[in-house]
Amino acid sequence: MPEAVLRIGEKEVSLPLMTGSVGETAVDISSLRDETGAVTLDDGFANTAETASDLTFVDGEAGVLIHRGYTIEDLASEASFLEVAHLLLFGALPTKGELESFVGSIQEHLHVDSAIRNVFSAVPQDAHPMQVLGSAVAALGGHYADDLDPNDPESVERNSYRLIAKLPILIAWAHRAREGQEIVDPIPGADYVANFLEMMFGDGGHIDEQEQIAAKALDSLLLLHADHGQNCSTSAVRLVGSSGANLYGAITGGIFALSGPLHGGANQEVLEMLASISEDGGDVDKYINRAKDKDDPFRLMGFGHRVYKNFDPRANVIRTTAEEVLNRLGVDDPLLDVAVQLQKRALEDDYFVERKLFPNVDFFSGIIYRALGFPVDMFTTLFALGRLPGWLSQFKEMKTDSSNRIFRPRQIYTGEPKRAWLPMEER
Ligand code: ACO
Repeated sequence: MPEAVLRIGEKEVSLPLMTGSVGETAVDISSLRDETGAVTLDDGFANTAETASDLTFVDGEAGVLIHRGYTIEDLASEASFLEVAHLLLFGALPTKGELESFVGSIQEHLHVDSAIRNVFSAVPQDAHPMQVLGSAVAALGGHYADDLDPNDPESVERNSYRLIAKLPILIAWAHRAREGQEIVDPIPGADYVANFLEMMFGDGGHIDEQEQIAAKALDSLLLLHADHGQNCSTSAVRLVGSSGANLYGAITGGIFALSGPLHGGANQEVLEMLASISEDGGDVDKYINRAKDKDDPFRLMGFGHRVYKNFDPRANVIRTTAEEVLNRLGVDDPLLDVAVQLQKRALEDDYFVERKLFPNVDFFSGIIYRALGFPVDMFTTLFALGRLPGWLSQFKEMKTDSSNRIFRPRQIYTGEPKRAWLPMEER
């Protein structure tokens, strides 16, 4: 069996190697502390595989993203969001019948108890939608107290359908409540994404051609976000779930992890950045220089990625989609020009080239969300909706993995060593 040899002082230990299905190598250090007393230190887990997983492969150096063997480019051009959700959850692209049955199982759960609306009135109108969404999902779990066993696969599957069905409703309700508008109920039998747009912006009636164009674009964006390996929010879902907490608790953890500006919150920040560059006269070079200045906290939002050191393949698809959608909807958005110029300048600049900083998935997505009519601070809720199938699939995978243990990392203590107790009068 292949192994790695590690010497710590005089002591030498052999550690087994694990090889993934496309040749990635991992050193299994689980016996290291028992054998040597040492632990590993890995800031930001940049070099740590927290699990083995069959779901998603990312090759950041080559700019490759694959779900269960299928490239993101093929999925984006051929599949729908719910087909990809099925692929992630059940391991295979659905047949026509399987897709109908999957959609039917989601449609069974289109009712949300009206008591959940109290969450929207319990927060001030300027509360961030991600704060509201996380609270609503946590509250939703309270409605299924007798069906929350995370170790019961059928219950997890049922609750997965519930969450896929209800998350768009909660997002639309949150938006309407804030706008002081009446809620619009989901239309039974309607397309998943078109229904969501109707609940957000329509009157629950006919879904017209413009809405269908918008729905197709949003479907594609949701699909591009469906899973991405052990990113911050997915790790949060697994971490919360590893303690035996239920699915709603784990997904709530994922939503709040996603809300941060270094993760899903970046899509809002990108658009705000593009708008302020535009308002400031569109001087792209000024902002490129600010991003390079170590004394300036400004970062080029939507640029850089922990894993991708090459183009984020999702950003390529999204840029094309953005141009198509704006054309088809007849929207002329000057922020797209600012984004294209920023990208061009950054990709020619040594600072960005040397650090391998490329546009990530968030760089162009906000321009499409804006064209579809979403308020800027709702953007991250759309990321959450897209990422939901990934979170659910990762939770399911963790729960069916017999080697799953509670996540409990170590630390290196750097505080005061043991010292004598200091009475109050001597301090
Ligand atoms: N603008 C300017 N400089 C940057 C940027 C940026 N967007 N991103 C990284 N850098 C620089 C850092 O200052 C650092 O420079 P140094 O080596 O001279 O100190 C170097 O590039 C490495 O950056 P780190 O922050 O160490 O990289 P890390 O992997 O920890 O962070 C992250 C990745 C958080 C995505 C970072 O690139 C960033 O903040 N980007 C902007 C926010 C963003 O777009 N987030 C969305 C990520 S995608 C997603 O979550 C879906």
